Amino acid sequence: MKEIVVSGIRPTGNLHLGNYFGAVKSFIQMQNDYNCYFFIADWHSLTTRPKPEDIVQSAHTILAEYLACGIDPEKATIYVQSDVKEVLELYLYLNMNAYLGEMERCTTFKEKARKQPENVNAGLLTYPTLMAADILQHKAVKVPVGKDQEQNMEMARKFARRFNTMYGVDFFPEPQNFSLSEKAVKIPGLDGSGKMGKSEGNCIYLMDDSETIRKKVMKAVTDAGPTAPNSPKPEVIENLFTFLDIVSTKDTYDFFNEKWNDCSIRYGDLKKQIAQDIAAFNEPIRERLMDYAANKPLLEKIARQGAEKARESAAQTVKEVREIIGFKG
Ligand code: TRP
Repeated sequence: MKEIVVSGIRPTGNLHLGNYFGAVKSFIQMQNDYNCYFFIADWHSLTTRPKPEDIVQSAHTILAEYLACGIDPEKATIYVQSDVKEVLELYLYLNMNAYLGEMERCTTFKEKARKQPENVNAGLLTYPTLMAADILQHKAVKVPVGKDQEQNMEMARKFARRFNTMYGVDFFPEPQNFSLSEKAVKIPGLDGSGKMGKSEGNCIYLMDDSETIRKKVMKAVTDAGPTAPNSPKPEVIENLFTFLDIVSTKDTYDFFNEKWNDCSIRYGDLKKQIAQDIAAFNEPIRERLMDYAANKPLLEKIARQGAEKARESAAQTVKEVREIIGFKG
């Protein structure tokens, strides 16, 4: 039996190279070795009042992007959170034993409350219980998450333990963090800021076409050039070489590295090469993405089948939880 892995995808914007070489690539590898449930966390997104017309649209876009990247619905279960209502019942049970004090102490809650003081709602407060329910409904043992989710994971383990202790059962496994940051390649920004990120506004998106990519890469920050042979590379130049490392061939990397070392490098050529190789990397993903985006019935079918599989697993868990709690039949 393969170990169960669950991860939620926050529906925020389009995927960029940083996402790809971070979480997405790990998901693609994990789907071969684990029984994976990946879902689009659209219920969680209600804490910040999205517009009705954006909700389905963004779930479909995200689904299409993950599929285009290589999440295979034959291997992993990919679904939309709001299609599997079983989680709500578990959310309710967990909330009955979640204490106001511990919820208020969560740093993510405190931060959100600070950011949107006009809308400190109960959904924000109980975000960790919904997240725990997402995980525990499938009795997951591993959860791939970034550093920012560690406290939420602590809470999920606490709720699992509390349920087990309270009813004297060994029912929920305690889900472990599956740290993404160790394996993931950190993709730098091209603007000299440390990392590629949406809030940094320096992203190359997987759906960017070659002209857009070229414009973005040509604007990359560089320096005046090496002044002595074999000198260490300053960060902005190292960043460019990181791109060569991930999207170009080894020969190309070595070629430019040599040019750096003998001080004959021309940044214009380097950037052209990087732009070309990123475009070549993106192209097949972009094509698949456009195929999916143009095929709504297929997306809907994949989402429906994913939801069915997820429901089967969730319904079994909730049925047993009801019995443990004392609801019969
Ligand atoms: N909180 C996660 C994030 O912000 C998203 C999420 C929701 C999640 N439910 C989850 C992640 C369950 C892992 C497991 O990124």
